[in-house]
Amino acid sequence: MQIIHLLCVFTALIAPAAPKDKCYMHEQCKNCIRTAGCQWCAEPIFNTETMNRCFESGTVRCGRNYIYPKPNNDKYRTLQDNNFSTDVLFRPQRVQLKLHVGEEYSLKLKYKHTRDYPVDLYYLMDLSASMEDDKDSLSKLGSKLAAEMQALTRDFRLGFGSFVDKVEMPYVSTVPEKLQVPCTLKSKQPCAPPYGFKNHLKLDTNTSLFSMRVNEAKVSGNLDFPEGGFDAIMQAIVCQKQIGWRQKARHLLVFSTDADFHFAGDGRLAGLVEPNDMQCYVTDDGNYTHSLVFDYPSISQINQVAKQHNINLIFAITDGASKIYKNLVGSIEGSSYGILSGDSSNVVKLVRDEYQVRIIS
Ligand SMILES: *[C@@H]1O[C@H](CO)[C@@H](O)[C@H](O)[C@H]1NC(C)=O
Ligand SMILES: *[C@@H]1O[C@H](CO)[C@@H](O)[C@H](O)[C@H]1NC(C)=O
Ligand SMILES: *[C@@H]1O[C@H](CO)[C@@H](O)[C@H](O)[C@H]1NC(C)=O
Repeated sequence: MQIIHLLCVFTALIAPAAPKDKCYMHEQCKNCIRTAGCQWCAEPIFNTETMNRCFESGTVRCGRNYIYPKPNNDKYRTLQDNNFSTDVLFRPQRVQLKLHVGEEYSLKLKYKHTRDYPVDLYYLMDLSASMEDDKDSLSKLGSKLAAEMQALTRDFRLGFGSFVDKVEMPYVSTVPEKLQVPCTLKSKQPCAPPYGFKNHLKLDTNTSLFSMRVNEAKVSGNLDFPEGGFDAIMQAIVCQKQIGWRQKARHLLVFSTDADFHFAGDGRLAGLVEPNDMQCYVTDDGNYTHSLVFDYPSISQINQVAKQHNINLIFAITDGASKIYKNLVGSIEGSSYGILSGDSSNVVKLVRDEYQVRIIS
């Protein structure tokens, strides 16, 4: 009995001695508060003989108002915690955090998955002659996208545009008869005259109109392998009014091709040295008028306008050309790519995933 009692007294006596921990070594406030788990006691009357001002959180008696940084429960504060309403998909909306330099803090985010979030999807199709074989699957892809989007949200619009290349040597043959009929299709049908970019259908809610326009679009022809898709992407993004992008909607731009693309610098082959000025030159009836005025856009210009207008590019590429686009998506923020399979179901999945990711992240 006696011995136990003595032991307790002894323990009580040595306990106040400050432990030599990671906080104890700091004699200055600024070093102390930069160390995770340490706090500084700034009480005016403080016995530094027996205690250290820098201490491990919760180990020293110190007036609450004198502790820096403030104890844990003040670290996280929600500034504005809106009800989930139609426009609020995330909670909290704003938080304030007080952390040590380098300190980590996990916080929970709640999100709401809304049905019927508005979506704009513009479908941009390569219609050069090599696409003849793919035209069918691309038309089908158009219809499938329409059906798929309908299942995801009731508030969506579809638009459609196509491109070939700049109508100038060496991209396109400028022999007069070739300008009218650049090639003959396997079906013996004459190809349509070449053009840079055409807006066939402004974003619209009528999905049958969309499928109709995609089916109607005629394959054309050009000479060299890479195509002028960058001109088309640029116009489809910056011509906000002509394409009909809505401000409050997800913006998806699906780009389908089987070939490489021309980019800034390639215009010189046709004497087009003026750099692309990233402005819109599409008439109300859908013709791109400055194809032969400016060089092709650069990758960084495409990235810039896509970011600026909040547009997610989805490259739907036939197998042969996929590698170059795989690299391209690394340079364009928020872009993705998929290989266009025979039934194009994977591109539909890509669009669905993209829609869902954009909604919840
Ligand atoms: C959310 O809003 C409803 C009505 O607008 C209100 O009755 C409810 O108390 C609110 N909930 C919170 C957590 O603010
Ligand atoms: C959609 O477009 C088709 C083809 O032009 C037309 O026949 C139909 O009436 C349109 N539907 C609506 C709801 O506008
Ligand atoms: C647009 O191009 C079509 C042919 O593709 C032509 O018939 C029409 O006149 C052009 N419109 C303008 C405004 O140049």
